Amino acid sequence: MLDRLDFDRRRDRHLPRLSGLFQRLYGADVGAQDEFLLLLADLEQAWSERPETLRRLDTERESAPGWFQSNTMVGGVCYVDRFAGGLAGIRSRIPYFVELGLNYLHLMPLFASPTGSSDGGYAVSSYRDVDPALGTMAELAALAAELRANGISLVLDFVFNHTSNEHEWAQRALARDPEFENFYLIYPHREQPDAYERTTREIFPDDHPGSFVPLDDGRWVWSTFYHFQWDLNYRNPAVFRAMARELLFLANQGVEILRMDAVAFIWKQLGTSCENLPEAHLLLQAFNAVCRIAAPSLLFKSEAIVHPDQIVEYIDEGECQLSYNPLQMALIWNTLATREVNLLEQALVERHALPPGTAWVNYVRSHDDIGWTFADEDAAELGIDGTAHRRFLSDFFTGRFEGSFARGLPFQENPRTGDSRVAGSTASLAGLEAGDPLAVARILAAHAVIMTTGGIPVIFLGDEVGQLNDYSYQDDAALAVDSRWAGRPWFPLDAYAQRGEPTSLPGGVFHGMRRLIQVRRETHEFAGNQLTGFDSKNPHVLGYVRPGARSKVLVLINFADTPQPVAAEVLSGMSGDATELLSGRRHPHAAELLLAPMAVVWLRYEESH
Ligand code: GLC
Ligand code: GLC
Repeated sequence: MLDRLDFDRRRDRHLPRLSGLFQRLYGADVGAQDEFLLLLADLEQAWSERPETLRRLDTERESAPGWFQSNTMVGGVCYVDRFAGGLAGIRSRIPYFVELGLNYLHLMPLFASPTGSSDGGYAVSSYRDVDPALGTMAELAALAAELRANGISLVLDFVFNHTSNEHEWAQRALARDPEFENFYLIYPHREQPDAYERTTREIFPDDHPGSFVPLDDGRWVWSTFYHFQWDLNYRNPAVFRAMARELLFLANQGVEILRMDAVAFIWKQLGTSCENLPEAHLLLQAFNAVCRIAAPSLLFKSEAIVHPDQIVEYIDEGECQLSYNPLQMALIWNTLATREVNLLEQALVERHALPPGTAWVNYVRSHDDIGWTFADEDAAELGIDGTAHRRFLSDFFTGRFEGSFARGLPFQENPRTGDSRVAGSTASLAGLEAGDPLAVARILAAHAVIMTTGGIPVIFLGDEVGQLNDYSYQDDAALAVDSRWAGRPWFPLDAYAQRGEPTSLPGGVFHGMRRLIQVRRETHEFAGNQLTGFDSKNPHVLGYVRPGARSKVLVLINFADTPQPVAAEVLSGMSGDATELLSGRRHPHAAELLLAPMAVVWLRYEESH
């Protein structure tokens, strides 16, 4: 009974917003109104099915809404099959996740999807079925509960821009069922596709040119990504409602954070790039309102790999509370290549601030390629030519640049546009594969940034033991065309077995990583998102300050291959002695610092009274 009152309270509070958004998206016509009424019934239904434990979580999180901004947050991401064989294997690795200090676990897409090529599961054939090779939905719900009992939040993808061509809706559209044809963007001939393609970008040009693919019967269907991923037609309110139901179904399995895949692409408008349109935001806000009513503790993480001005537009308490920070990610690699901190420092000072109630998900790399998504305007301010610099970075990280330590692979090089991105594992990109003596320190320096800039740092599991590129995908016809698989290796049994031996390479990385995680978790200044720049007056030394209530932590990282000083005058503005948190050593007031290559220091200054 009380629960029912909870629902009524939340519905009364958020319904006006939901209804306003729905009207703006779909107008006030009778069809849309009918869908809206059905949606309201779906919300009630979903709430009535929401398990008791999750309703308790909802209440808990309502009284601690900033839980994900804590410095104790540390995330990991992995493929279920590659990391652990299946859901049962993931379950058996929970003690390891706890050992590492994780409290956020993102499992890569694990739903039913086409066999062979499925874009790593990003072609979903049913949102309600786990890929039978990995387990069942009941096992997933049990896993979510067991993770939660161990203090770990489960994160899954919501691949909502498209379904696979094997999804029941797609099959019915293919069979010309009018209700489902209208779930996708299907055209009888090239006229409309040609018109759209005049202004859209090619995302996977190696797979097909443009944004459409032909069906066997001569029709054309919108496919932003692979030809077997068909974009949903969100102009149809029935699609919104259908996907809201899938979303709430997943929420009720115990997922705490949904990674909203490919948010930039969800709304199309002739004559535009069909990316980042205002309606894409309205849609996300409407999905957000759906959650506030029927699954209030669920959070969204935005995956927008776009211009930095546009990334932040998705981040809001009423839209996506979390977002990947691809700019920081790309600029960490930029700093490793150039040994110059200029661009990263600029991004931290000018592009780090966020609205209240939100946080970045900071990462060194993901399962995807690295795109050089910094803004040309920002680069120009520093005298850097964006186009030429991107070419340099792609050359550097694919090892084509003379003297490069990196062993990445090119991804979707587009000779027509000059666009080029890079794939690979952290260790291979950082020099471990090439035998570079600074590789381990480089891996740690990169992670030292994500551990200290606020929000949730997420480790691609395997990177914490220095896992290299895996080239076995080249022998698999379904995967060989997609070099991102080099950076999605199978569980490295040997590397994990050596993690306790600090003198081994995997052990060296693991040991350093554990230390970063442990100290982060003890350092309250690393909570939240407050950050101010600190000019080290040395182009190779990154500096920034994280303020606490009565103290602050100065982070300094030397990205050069040689020792670098930070002069006494530069530090003289900091009050009193400091404690270096990673080593526990005292640093006397305003003494010069000499940083070893890739050295990381976290200096805590207590406020003098
Ligand atoms: C996202 C995923 C990527 C996938 C694409 C299509 O960008 O991260 O792996 O290819 O969406 O779903
Ligand atoms: C994303 C990005 C693109 C990325 C791709 C996944 O949406 O726009 O840069 O490479 O999907 O690989």
